[in-house]
Amino acid sequence: MNKRFFVPLALLVASILTTGAFAQMAAPSGPIVLHIDAAKVVAQVSPTLYGLMTEEINYSYDGGLYAELVRNRTFQDGAEEPVHWSTVQDKGGTGAIALDRGQPLNSVLPVSLRLDVTAAPAGSRVGVANDGFWGIPVRPATTYRASFYAKAATGFSGALTVSIESSDGATVYASAPVSGLGEQWKKYTATLTTGKISETADTRLVIAAGSTGTVWLDLVSLFPPTWHNRPNGNRPDIMQLLADMKPSFLRFPGGNYLQGRTLATRFDWKRTLGDLAERPGHLDDAWRYRSSDGMGLLEFLEWCEDLNMEPVVGVFAGFTLGGVPTQPGPALEPFVQEALEEIEYIAGDTSTTWGARRAKDGHPAPFKLTYVEIGNEDFFDTRRGPGTYDGRYAQFYDAIKPKYPRLQIIATTKVKGHAMDVLDEHFYPRQAEVFEADATHYDSYDRAGPKIFVGEWATRIGTPTPNLLAAIGDAAWMTGMERNSDLVVMHSYAPFFVNVNPGGMQWPSDLIGYNALHSYGSPSYYAQQMFSSHHGDVVLAASAENNPTREWQPPAGRNAKAPPAPKQVPAIYYVATRDSAKGTIYLKLVNSVATPQTVQVELSGGASIASKGAAIVLTSTSPTDTNSITEPAKVVPVTMPLTGLGSTFTRELAPYSVTVLELPPR
Ligand code: AHR
Repeated sequence: MNKRFFVPLALLVASILTTGAFAQMAAPSGPIVLHIDAAKVVAQVSPTLYGLMTEEINYSYDGGLYAELVRNRTFQDGAEEPVHWSTVQDKGGTGAIALDRGQPLNSVLPVSLRLDVTAAPAGSRVGVANDGFWGIPVRPATTYRASFYAKAATGFSGALTVSIESSDGATVYASAPVSGLGEQWKKYTATLTTGKISETADTRLVIAAGSTGTVWLDLVSLFPPTWHNRPNGNRPDIMQLLADMKPSFLRFPGGNYLQGRTLATRFDWKRTLGDLAERPGHLDDAWRYRSSDGMGLLEFLEWCEDLNMEPVVGVFAGFTLGGVPTQPGPALEPFVQEALEEIEYIAGDTSTTWGARRAKDGHPAPFKLTYVEIGNEDFFDTRRGPGTYDGRYAQFYDAIKPKYPRLQIIATTKVKGHAMDVLDEHFYPRQAEVFEADATHYDSYDRAGPKIFVGEWATRIGTPTPNLLAAIGDAAWMTGMERNSDLVVMHSYAPFFVNVNPGGMQWPSDLIGYNALHSYGSPSYYAQQMFSSHHGDVVLAASAENNPTREWQPPAGRNAKAPPAPKQVPAIYYVATRDSAKGTIYLKLVNSVATPQTVQVELSGGASIASKGAAIVLTSTSPTDTNSITEPAKVVPVTMPLTGLGSTFTRELAPYSVTVLELPPR
């Protein structure tokens, strides 16, 4: 991230209390007047302005969007013990479980789970239990698909029972028998359907035997219904939250997850393809847990397809978080080739080597691809010596562009001596005022330079998910990006996801929170959703008179010798766009202060709007109000009818509020 603001909590609270108060505001000399000139189009709105950025952080995929319910399904978490697995011994049955490296499923999955049943009196059972990702979500009248590989030692002739049950085993919600185990590895499947039960995640998956002997298991999987019923698919509730944002692109796979700390732990896309039994998974050491890679390259692309998004793929560019950057030149060439192959996998037709591989993996049609990003936050390599990115970017660019002239090549930091198509900039302030004071950031950017992708940004106030104050900072910042979307062609909040269970979060302030059963959008999520689903295709000239300001002391940078000069922060932020086909004007207004603000809207330039429209308002009683698993809808937008509209009208903006006015033509 190229703009980090580390502000101690006490200072942050003090700053909110002192600078957020209306008492600090300069007295306005009259009502706030907002002039909108409907005849003056100042920019086209980029059709790809609003998108998503995700990576494996905070249990975003495993334990999040990726619907797999079994944790550590290939027994590779933990070297000694089968973590998240335990032994079940009921009604006099006895036995034990252990990791077994002597009986691998194949060369890719080197560890299996061995179950030794030593005593099995009639009516007993001995088995293995998995506790899922903080529980296995069990809902009424729901069908789950279980699968696993198994084999038995000579002498075992019994059946297995697969069941979803309460954590203490007292209640079985659904179960199915699996029989016919032999001495060779084979895949078994079972369908488990729940009845009239109450939803719960205080549960476990059990595979148990009722007879003595030895059984080995691997790749134990359980899927609930998925979005569009895709096999190996995604969780529907989280997909719905994303669909409601109408995103136009998905930046993946990172973020630091792309890079890893070593070459062995980067996102190595080739190892994420094909049958799950062919995917080794890898340690996500950027965020300190193991990834199953069930969310592999093709799953990312199918996710794009499901939500009508374009992939924005980050290719590994020779720079890990922990190692020495690969020097441009011959040493970098294998990674350049790998990137070319990845592009071919995504966008090549089936006559190409990697397009054919994609077809073999189940998706013959190529995906639309416009943007490829070279690495992630490569300015960090200058911390280990002279930077290498100028040369690395140039080498990738010069290999990709001749082969794919239509691709736009994104740089992750400014490159000297070479053309950049697009530049990715990241912002993570911890005070709303940082974005508010900087909402004009792109107004004066050089239009002759590269286009801008704000690939990661967020106001980081609130944990695990941001509060209303953060949403106000975000909304002020988004007015600036939308106003400048001739230049800012794409932007994406980050991080997107957090599993809110203890231990689930590595990075505080994430847009969408969830546990096994439920998910919710933060106030910042709703601000995003309001912006992304209400805008036109052209930006109209707009200016404000008498916009009150307050003085704000910006935080000192990490190496600053003296505090920076105080800044004047406006009370309201705005942007007006028009849908050329419908004629509707969308006016976004953000009130960043604790008192209501009345805005007189003056429309000129021949705008003729209907007397009725709609207002969508996001606010709450306190700026620290937020949403959570237990209160998912505490801060949500409310839509209300508007009357009395015309070329002049007034609107009172609630304290700490984000408003979209939808003004249809007459
Ligand atoms: O969004 C979290 C992290 O912040 C990303 O992985 C990285 O690109 C940035 O530093």
